[in-house]
Amino acid sequence: MSEFVNPELVPKVKFYTGEEVPCIGLGTFGSDRVSAEDVAKAVDGAIRSGYRNIDCAACYGNEDLIGDVLKNLLSENVVKRDELFIMTKVWNDMHREVAKALKKSLSDLKLDYVDMYYIHWPFPNYHAPHCDVDSRNPDSKPFSVDEFCDTYEQIAALQKEGLVRNIGISNLTIPKLEAVLPKLSVKPAACELEIHPCFQQNELMQYLIDHDILPVGYMPLGSPRRPERDIVETDINDMAEPVITEIAKNHGVHPALICLKWAQQRGEMAIPFSIHNYVANLKCVTEDPLSDEEMKAIGTMERNNRLVKGQVFLWPGAESWHDLWDEDGVIVQ
Ligand SMILES: NC(=O)c1ccc[n+]([C@@H]2O[C@H](COP(=O)([O-])OP(=O)(O)OC[C@H]3O[C@@H](n4cnc5c(N)ncnc54)[C@H](OP(=O)(O)O)[C@@H]3O)[C@@H](O)[C@H]2O)c1
Repeated sequence: MSEFVNPELVPKVKFYTGEEVPCIGLGTFGSDRVSAEDVAKAVDGAIRSGYRNIDCAACYGNEDLIGDVLKNLLSENVVKRDELFIMTKVWNDMHREVAKALKKSLSDLKLDYVDMYYIHWPFPNYHAPHCDVDSRNPDSKPFSVDEFCDTYEQIAALQKEGLVRNIGISNLTIPKLEAVLPKLSVKPAACELEIHPCFQQNELMQYLIDHDILPVGYMPLGSPRRPERDIVETDINDMAEPVITEIAKNHGVHPALICLKWAQQRGEMAIPFSIHNYVANLKCVTEDPLSDEEMKAIGTMERNNRLVKGQVFLWPGAESWHDLWDEDGVIVQ
């Protein structure tokens, strides 16, 4: 039995609804390298070790095995359902059939409701699992405010039915948020975005905080084993940067834990994936915080090191992956 981290001692993040949850969750994307069985085993070990938030997605291809684990843990009384915070996401090919997508996830996860249901990407653009970065779906379309809002309102209806407790969004930009937020009947509780020391997204993070939407940072360690298709030569390895390795040396811990302490002290929920180090990742935010000087030093590491560029979601006529991210402050059509 691995070490138990008391969830009560894990610092909390708060949604605008007033609900508080632990600031570290477990990611479950195996990055095409870790099998569904091994991810499910990590979920089992993580919950037994004190994790309460789990970040799932239909497109990770492992919800059925994670569901077996959850069912078992709940029936063994290792944890109660209302102590868990299970998040999942509707995939791009199901934006017009959200109820069907959610029912499949609920059936796979063996749950009656999820605690957060995200729109995984703001585009309905499907690409086959494991496809090459250069592959393009000719049916792909640029962002549509109306279609996004329609997808969102389908989730809002499922929330009314009690199948979804909170609504989340993911991979949005400030221009897209500006366009959709005034139109939504319920405010999103959280937004997933890529955040790690060399890609801090300060402006977007501040926008979310100002609008009382919780930032949930994905790839908090710079995803060293992300799928091959997402790796380009100019990418920076955040955990190998001297600022991080020096602070890690001073604290006597792995650089990963410095990234997570920084994420927590910055005010986000972080969702590191791990099959080997999940206990350390949860425990690190309960002890030995970073000093103001260390936080400031990491603050200087911003290098615009976006790792998930999203090429496969591009539509015919789009010039490059930069078009997905509205870098000039307007929605690229
Ligand atoms: N909304 C979205 O579009 C979106 C996109 C991408 C990801 N996500 C979510 O974010 C989660 C996290 O992202 P990610 O998995 O790509 O990257 P990540 O969490 O930044 O990195 C995970 C990698 O770091 C290693 N690691 C974890 N803890 C470590 C430690 N203490 N010491 C040394 N190595 C450590 C893991 O290896 P071990 O397994 O060996 O520990 C794994 O290879 C995903 O699983 C998914 O749930 C969401």
